[in-house]
Amino acid sequence: MKIAVAGTGYVGLVTGVCLAENGHSVTCVDIDDKKVALMESGISPIYEPGLEELMNNNMERLHFTTDYQAAYKDADVIFIGVGTPEKPDGSANLSYVYGVAEQIAASIEKECVVVVKSTVPIGTNDKIENLIKSQLKHDVNVYVASNPEFLSQGTAVKDTLHTSRIVIGVEEEAAGETLKEVYKNFDAPIVVTNRKSAEMIKYASNDFLALKISFINEIANLCEIIGADIEDVALGMGYDVRIGNKFLNAGIGYGGSCFPKDTKALHWLANFHDYELKTVKAAIDVNENQKLKLIKKSRKYFDSLKGLNVAVLGLTFKPGTDDLREAPTLVNIPLMLEDGANVKAWDPIGIDNFRKVHPEDVTYCYSIEETLKDADVCFIFTEWDQLKHFDLTKYSKLMKNPIVIDGRNCYDLESVKKANMVYDSIGRETIHNLEVSLI
Ligand code: UGA
Repeated sequence: MKIAVAGTGYVGLVTGVCLAENGHSVTCVDIDDKKVALMESGISPIYEPGLEELMNNNMERLHFTTDYQAAYKDADVIFIGVGTPEKPDGSANLSYVYGVAEQIAASIEKECVVVVKSTVPIGTNDKIENLIKSQLKHDVNVYVASNPEFLSQGTAVKDTLHTSRIVIGVEEEAAGETLKEVYKNFDAPIVVTNRKSAEMIKYASNDFLALKISFINEIANLCEIIGADIEDVALGMGYDVRIGNKFLNAGIGYGGSCFPKDTKALHWLANFHDYELKTVKAAIDVNENQKLKLIKKSRKYFDSLKGLNVAVLGLTFKPGTDDLREAPTLVNIPLMLEDGANVKAWDPIGIDNFRKVHPEDVTYCYSIEETLKDADVCFIFTEWDQLKHFDLTKYSKLMKNPIVIDGRNCYDLESVKKANMVYDSIGRETIHNLEVSLI
């Protein structure tokens, strides 16, 4: 099939490349000519494991262009995969999606199915259909379908090629049949429903996962108070298949481009209809507090971070990505700097992006050892494998005061007990193997 994909971010590019891998001819459209030139030369503008390799394997079926008219005019299917960032009031900014819809209306010259992959508020597909139909330049039949994605950053290619389900939201059977044809080589259950239900499946899925994380984080906070261990609690809960053992990792809260935005957007939408989504609101509130947990913990050891050497390990919102959107470090590092700390930071792939936000006030290091050297305290924000496998004895060898405050529970307490350090993590006993000089 001849497919066009609008947007070459995590959703658009991964979708385009995976559809090409499944035998379709795919043209990826982006407004940024530098990005297009990069992709044409076989370089992925985003870091996503396996993406560049898959892209290069499928170059004969992949095309990249800024010329949306040429890409859309005779496409069988056009996927919209552009961003829907959060507006200051928590609602989703749909201007990019509507912009693409206008371009589609101006370009298509034959019947096609427009597929909305971007996460959009319930009812947006209807608006997109009205917009396209009212602005069509050529008198052709156009269908609009909702087909949300369920990929996670860091495993996006795998999640797309081996997706847990394909959700198709359509108002006409013909559009559903076309989408089934697009996905005919994918081995996954297909849920066909109406457009609003498909839009809701996406939000409800993400908000449920966010709620699960906020729930386990609250239980972790209580574990700290009463002396229980969250890792054991999660393990014991997870064996119940109705609960499941995934997404029960306590930490400093969820970040990224999806959960923070999608929880707020659904809450906003409910409010707009005079309904309060109390569980989603609770997930949001808990997450806001959880983000500051490490700084709050540091107050046990220091009244202020003024003049202290602070080592920050991990900058991105999770491992396996260079994405900083809604990363807890974006809130915490400014607080540390405001407090007067000397901040040194390490991340295996996030430094270039973080430097754009903090070009001068943070010292960037390219090894964990260099970051820890002479540090008074260390904060762990991202559970990179390099950290999980780091030799624990090095903390006391390198740091001035080996106080490690870990927001991602990277180490098991039995190993920490053998090292000479103070180790304060989430929802677990604090290990205090040192006489710490309080500053
Ligand atoms: C999320 C969903 O997992 C995907 O299914 C969905 O398709 C995607 O949003 C989207 O809407 O596009 P993503 O944001 O890439 O994917 O990342 P996740 O792996 O879900 O992690 C989100 C955040 O939750 C991270 O900050 C992570 O550290 C945190 N998290 C995750 C926890 O704190 N605990 C957990 O147990 C799991």
